[in-house]
Amino acid sequence: MTFPAMRMRRLRRTDSLRALVRETTLDPGDLIYPLFICPGEGVRRAVGSMPGVFNLSVDEAVREAEEAASLGIGGLLLFGLPESKDETGTGAWDANGIVQQALRALKASPAAKKLVLMGDVCLCEYTSHGHCGIVKEQNGSFDVENDSTLELLARTAVSQAQVGADIVAPSDMMDGRVAAIRSALDAAGFTQTPILSYASKFASAFYGPFREAADSAPQFGDRRTYQMDGANLREALREIELDLAEGADMILMKPAMPYLDVVRAARELTGVPMGAYQVSGEYSMLHAAFERGWLDRDRATLESLVSMRRAGADFIVTYFAKDAARLL
Ligand code: PBG
Repeated sequence: MTFPAMRMRRLRRTDSLRALVRETTLDPGDLIYPLFICPGEGVRRAVGSMPGVFNLSVDEAVREAEEAASLGIGGLLLFGLPESKDETGTGAWDANGIVQQALRALKASPAAKKLVLMGDVCLCEYTSHGHCGIVKEQNGSFDVENDSTLELLARTAVSQAQVGADIVAPSDMMDGRVAAIRSALDAAGFTQTPILSYASKFASAFYGPFREAADSAPQFGDRRTYQMDGANLREALREIELDLAEGADMILMKPAMPYLDVVRAARELTGVPMGAYQVSGEYSMLHAAFERGWLDRDRATLESLVSMRRAGADFIVTYFAKDAARLL
């Protein structure tokens, strides 16, 4: 049947018809809200390049989490800005580190602990050089050492599990880290703590504002020897297969909007729960257009998130989580 017998516009005539035939849903429970935890008390420091995003001290983070919970948001992803940094990022696995303090406080709040609490497992926020692993110098050139970093990532994951992380999420892109983290968690008795691996993480310019928010910019070089080349789809699928073989329970794809083809391909590759991370630059870019009145804030926000669900993501890590939950 074709026109004029068939008319596609028939099902677009009213809100209720459109709702009935809508293929993709978006629910506040699908959204994960990233928080940047900093030392101090009563601190709520705006991040210049990310309007509406703050560095929050633990007490403020608990308040923010309680608000997120009341909006029905699914969970939090925690990043830390430590008091001090060093060569090996010891703050990442410090039993009293900044994320560990936040996890303890969140677990003590009846409202906040209903959220799925995820710890980002990486060293770049904690190392003086800003790289995601141990840096070794050899003949004047630098290398981010893979194998010696694994042990530190594993310690970080265990220390987060010990203070109540519901999920640990390694974002470093070292080879073999999922297996290393799994065996360390199991050895420490955390056989039930899931791993959400950032399986497909591209070396992206869209992380720029995050590095201001988390104070984690590399002090020299860049991340292209560990994060993926943005030109590569097949490599992303291999990364996913390897992380799953090593024991990842869920996977995260990142960035989202410029890589929706990767999200779709990943969905077709595997049935494991999968998230898309709408990263800082995607958020900032949209905000820049909102501020100029070039894009409608509410519609563009929801449309960007629906696109990720349509591409196949089960859940979305997004700085718009509160805004979107309010709209929904
Ligand atoms: C840590 C990490 C980064 C992001 C998440 N985890 C930064 C990076 O890899 O440089 C970026 C998130 C964002 O841009 O919102 N490795």
